[in-house]
Amino acid sequence: MSKSTPYVMRHGEQHAVTLTLNGRERSGHCETRELLSDFLRHELGATGTHVGCEHGVCGACTVHVDGVAARSCLMLAVQADGRRVDTVEGLAPAQTLGDLQQAFSRHHALQCGFCTAGILMSCADFLQRVPDPTEEQVREMLSGHICRCTGYTPIVAAVLDCAAQRRAQCADTEAEHA
Ligand code: FES
Ligand code: FES
Repeated sequence: MSKSTPYVMRHGEQHAVTLTLNGRERSGHCETRELLSDFLRHELGATGTHVGCEHGVCGACTVHVDGVAARSCLMLAVQADGRRVDTVEGLAPAQTLGDLQQAFSRHHALQCGFCTAGILMSCADFLQRVPDPTEEQVREMLSGHICRCTGYTPIVAAVLDCAAQRRAQCADTEAEHA
């Protein structure tokens, strides 16, 4: 194409997108306007990511992009090309629940579970940045999510419990190596 000829996207034109999904390279095709959430679910089959509002309010679609929590309904699939994307499936490698998921189970922090994948991804990001949170900090983080079932209290308890367990494990490990 010459420099003076502007590129015109044709309706229905497909783009190749390659990303690292939960540690594995995956590729697919999408239209320019396709949301990352739809690409993950329909093209790559990662249906653990749920879609609610599709405009950034409910938080159900939260994933990690390059290690940071992000709304996959507010990002185009083409923007994820070449990046690392982690979804809720990545929290349970080898079919075993991760410690955060186990804490949710212990505290009955879900009912219908529709919001849970997104909440788990936000909590996972949050606990990496804030390993010793207060209840107020947890509630503030959760304010970016809508859960219609739980009333949030058991979710807060699960996050605080997981954080406490991780700190205890760290202390044990440090003591072993002292
Ligand atoms: S579906 Fe993305 S924030 Fe609701
Ligand atoms: S557990 Fe049902 S919406 Fe949160």
